[in-house]
Amino acid sequence: MSLNDPVSVEDAHLARVYSKKPLTIVRGTGCLVYDAGGREFVDCAGGYGTCIVGHAHPRVVEAITRQASKLTSCHGSVYNDARADFVKKLTSIAPSELDRAFLANSGAEAVEAAIKIARKSTGRRQIIAVKGGYHGKTHGALSATWDPKYRKSFEPLLPGFSHIPFNDTEAAKSAVTTEAAAVLVEPIQGEGGVRISSLDWLALLRDLTRDTGSLLILDEIQTGFGRTGKMFAGEHFHVRPDILCLGKGIASGLPIGVTLAGDGLMGSLGKGEHTSTFGGNPLVSAVGAATIDALLEDHLVENAANVGRYFQQGLAKLQREHSVIREARGLGLMLALENRFDVYNLLQKGLDGGVLMLDAGRNVLRFLPPLCLDRSLVDRVVTMLDRLMELEQAARVPGQTIA
Ligand SMILES: Cc1ncc(COP(=O)(O)O)c(C=O)c1O
Repeated sequence: MSLNDPVSVEDAHLARVYSKKPLTIVRGTGCLVYDAGGREFVDCAGGYGTCIVGHAHPRVVEAITRQASKLTSCHGSVYNDARADFVKKLTSIAPSELDRAFLANSGAEAVEAAIKIARKSTGRRQIIAVKGGYHGKTHGALSATWDPKYRKSFEPLLPGFSHIPFNDTEAAKSAVTTEAAAVLVEPIQGEGGVRISSLDWLALLRDLTRDTGSLLILDEIQTGFGRTGKMFAGEHFHVRPDILCLGKGIASGLPIGVTLAGDGLMGSLGKGEHTSTFGGNPLVSAVGAATIDALLEDHLVENAANVGRYFQQGLAKLQREHSVIREARGLGLMLALENRFDVYNLLQKGLDGGVLMLDAGRNVLRFLPPLCLDRSLVDRVVTMLDRLMELEQAARVPGQTIA
């Protein structure tokens, strides 16, 4: 391996904070990505869910090229045509009462803004998050993230945060009081293992926050923009939040985070109290607008629902046929296989089989493909998984207890 190849260079000079796979991706198209040698992979990782409309979508390529040759840098303290176009499109697809956006550069930043809006507008300090929840790794977002492995080394985190058990009605009733500024929740926990909130529980959180004068913040950074087969996952639950956090795929992989709220709540932030140098920059905004156009024109939300159902049926069949699989679950194209074994090695075997997948905890395989996935690619993935599960099954000693 040459000292100039990407693996050597990244290993030598980047912070060692990612657990790297031995794969260098150099290009992509639709739901496929390719390594330097031209080897093809079905992309069920989708850049951790940031590739919504497919790699190198012509609309996105055109928007990048057009805007890059026109203007890439323009601070929020002056007006910009690309930013205005994006925010108009964004608020037209968002719940109608959430008509103001704070534009930032990552999901964690979208959460930071939501926490500040909640505290400032209510005058309260308590933020109630959920066990198993994930909201990012900046200090505010990390205070809401549950997993001790992310938190431990950085304590003390922000005061005023607590975590209630997922889908626990009684715990929610006793935690959400008039002291609470907000409840912060993912409708479907992503990093926590693709765990779906119960309809009753999310509805209860909505009622409790309304009754106590606190706010409901939905973190749809992973579930938003059609991922679950609806534009926003809250629609499955008939729940409309006071604040909506978005990120990941809105700008087709370019850095973005969005906090949406109504005029009253957003108006609680005074001038200069919360800003971002890069937030709403023209290039990301143009790509965000093109991504929304592509999402609507290509009917990708409907495709996520339809192909997602087909994919889930394939995963459910695998579950019936392989006892090493505990459960197939998910909504739209946010899917998971919970297994009775540690999946880390399976991710590598998936690469060998031409499929890029994600984990979500020790024993959960997660699938966040672009929303343009089709049935033939699903068949390819399920066939590969069938083979891998067969091997996992064969590797177990009969009668052996597995995790
Ligand atoms: C639900 C949720 N919230 C917040 C984040 C943090 O987003 P980012 O990594 O862009 O800061 C993520 C990232 O995976 C997420 O899935």
